[in-house]
Amino acid sequence: MLDFIVYGVLLFLVVQVFRLWRADGDLSLLWYEKFGESPAQLAGQVVWITGASSGIGEALAAELSRVGAKLVLSARRKEELERVKQRCVETGKVADKDVLVVPLDSVAYDTHAGCVEQVLAHFGKVDVLVNNSGRSQRSLFSETSLEGNRFLLELNVLGQVSLTNAVLPHMMERGEGQIVVTGSTSGIFVSPGTSAYCGSKFALRGFYGTLRAELHSYNIDVLLVCPGPVESNVVENAMVGQPDKSYNQDGKLDPAHANDVSAPRCARLFMVGMANRLEEIWISRNPYLINAYLFTYVPFIGNWIMKTMAASQKKKQ
Ligand SMILES: NC(=O)c1ccc[n+]([C@@H]2O[C@H](COP(=O)([O-])OP(=O)(O)OC[C@H]3O[C@@H](n4cnc5c(N)ncnc54)[C@H](OP(=O)(O)O)[C@@H]3O)[C@@H](O)[C@H]2O)c1
Repeated sequence: MLDFIVYGVLLFLVVQVFRLWRADGDLSLLWYEKFGESPAQLAGQVVWITGASSGIGEALAAELSRVGAKLVLSARRKEELERVKQRCVETGKVADKDVLVVPLDSVAYDTHAGCVEQVLAHFGKVDVLVNNSGRSQRSLFSETSLEGNRFLLELNVLGQVSLTNAVLPHMMERGEGQIVVTGSTSGIFVSPGTSAYCGSKFALRGFYGTLRAELHSYNIDVLLVCPGPVESNVVENAMVGQPDKSYNQDGKLDPAHANDVSAPRCARLFMVGMANRLEEIWISRNPYLINAYLFTYVPFIGNWIMKTMAASQKKKQ
């Protein structure tokens, strides 16, 4: 009998390791994808997405429009937002009036309240706010100016916090809502060349984790989405050392790009998290996914891997 239990446990562990190796999301997220609430239940909800002009935000808008969600699309480039709106309307599941374009700069904090008024005047409510805009980084700590650090922290952290603050009174008054924020696996484990980016994504975990606890009694849920590499413009747009310098200007290619999760797949998993009112989800292929588990449960191994990686990068330079 004991043998039977031991073999049963071993078999279970082997299956889980195999599943984890092939997975593109954390195991509980993939369980919810199969057995949980369908994203189709987001139909009719008003979802406000920042960073909707490309990449993950654009894909999320497209996938949400397929299930009939009403959308507010925000980012700085109005013409790109109009293109994404057109893409959503072409699905045939939403009408022109169901998709509102609200250009917004995440760091123009004093404009955010006006944007909220504009959205409420049009839809009368916001069911879900997806704080998704952001930029990454490709420069060592020693190569990054204070201005560069400030720029990323203001955009990736205060930009999200400011818009959330502006939308929150409305949700608290209604006694319902969901706040989503796009973190990163860089908010779970560190990686060389991304100190300010990691700092910003770790900060989001603190801000929004605390907010989750504070909003629990208001029937407002907070979801932290942590993607690993996902097909988008994030690497090309990554800041290099200072705010006005980006990675694509250097004409470099990032080898991590090869194993990216596709943007539509990322968006569908994002929606599983939203529909099931989850608290935190990880969307990534390996080795990043396993790294996230290692950093969470056995951090000394994760740290050893990153130190080794940084040392080998230094040798190559
Ligand atoms: N792709 C990945 O591998 C990955 C992994 C982990 C986390 N993420 C996170 O996912 C989010 C979306 O990035 P992405 O991968 O989709 O990259 P992306 O294609 O470069 O999209 C970034 C979005 O942010 C917007 N944005 C940038 N600066 C802004 C500002 N000042 N105000 C308002 N919007 C601004 C951009 O629009 P405009 O230029 O039109 O303003 C764009 O829509 C980011 O928070 C990123 O950190 C991405």
